[in-house]
Amino acid sequence: MAHSQPETCEMQLNGVSELIDLLCIDVETDAVEDRPGRDDAPCSKNVLRKQRHWEKQVAAKKSKRREEKQRRKLNRDSGASIDHPEFTKRVMKAITRERLAEAQSTGLKVCVDLSMTDCMSDKEIGRLAGQLRRLYGSNKKAARPFHVFLTDLREDSRLYRECIRMNEGFLNYMMDITEDSCLDRFPPETVVYLTPDAEEALVTVDADKVYVLGGLVDESIQKKLSFSRAAELSVHTARLPIDEYMVKKSNVKNFHSKILAVNQVFDILLTFCDTGSWTQALQTWFPLGKGYEVAPVYSPATQPELED
Ligand SMILES: C[S@@+](CC[C@H](N)C(=O)[O-])C[C@H]1O[C@@H](n2cnc3c(N)ncnc32)[C@H](O)[C@@H]1O
Repeated sequence: MAHSQPETCEMQLNGVSELIDLLCIDVETDAVEDRPGRDDAPCSKNVLRKQRHWEKQVAAKKSKRREEKQRRKLNRDSGASIDHPEFTKRVMKAITRERLAEAQSTGLKVCVDLSMTDCMSDKEIGRLAGQLRRLYGSNKKAARPFHVFLTDLREDSRLYRECIRMNEGFLNYMMDITEDSCLDRFPPETVVYLTPDAEEALVTVDADKVYVLGGLVDESIQKKLSFSRAAELSVHTARLPIDEYMVKKSNVKNFHSKILAVNQVFDILLTFCDTGSWTQALQTWFPLGKGYEVAPVYSPATQPELED
């Protein structure tokens, strides 16, 4: 059977390492044989026994490597998924589509408000398109995806063009992409606008509410933009419960920020809905570089005793 170049290389390398193994024995043998006061006969018997043992080990390793390679090849050929090796890629794709379709009728609702892109630079628009791709990628992987809406996305906008250019299959994304605003789709009393500047912390995610994220990338930070947008829409606001579950971490630059990217907030919401735990959601997704860490949980056993 013809071998591909990397395979041939690997075989040659294996051969070299086996030779080195054998050479090691010879060196050891010489050392043993050179020792004064020892017979040749028992020594060479010992050496032969060792050699046979090594040869057996080398052969076993070789066959294990061959089996492993074959298993990897079989997996590749059958297109099995990493998460569920028993499913082929085609089956996984069908399951994902089914989950997303289900989410579009019964899922918890998350909306990205894309009405504020005019104040963003081309670079920021490109980054937002990338964040929307990651957000969709996370939703596809979720066991219970959200029903996602991209609102106020005009077909003649820079963002729309950038999404089509950068995000393969964007027009087939299983989310509701619309030029409507979020209030064209949802009654105002059901809308909770997530903004880092809200007073109230988000406690839970409700099936009869829609959670709106501001589609914004602000490298040149534009403070309170999403908060002002929520005020303009006269809807409820909420922030992630960072103050409630996290503490500041000391760092060289003394940098602390509670402002996350849209896809990071989305990941936190997904994990919270999956586990019911803000601690776990923030621990998993809150970016390390933002200068916060999840507060240690005090149990009576670990709580410091109060002084009299
Ligand atoms: C990069 S942030 C935009 C920050 C911007 N300066 C603003 O006015 O909100 C993008 C969006 O993610 C959401 N977001 C980011 N951090 C958040 C937090 N700590 N709590 C709630 N929502 C947050 C908000 O919906 C926000 O509009």
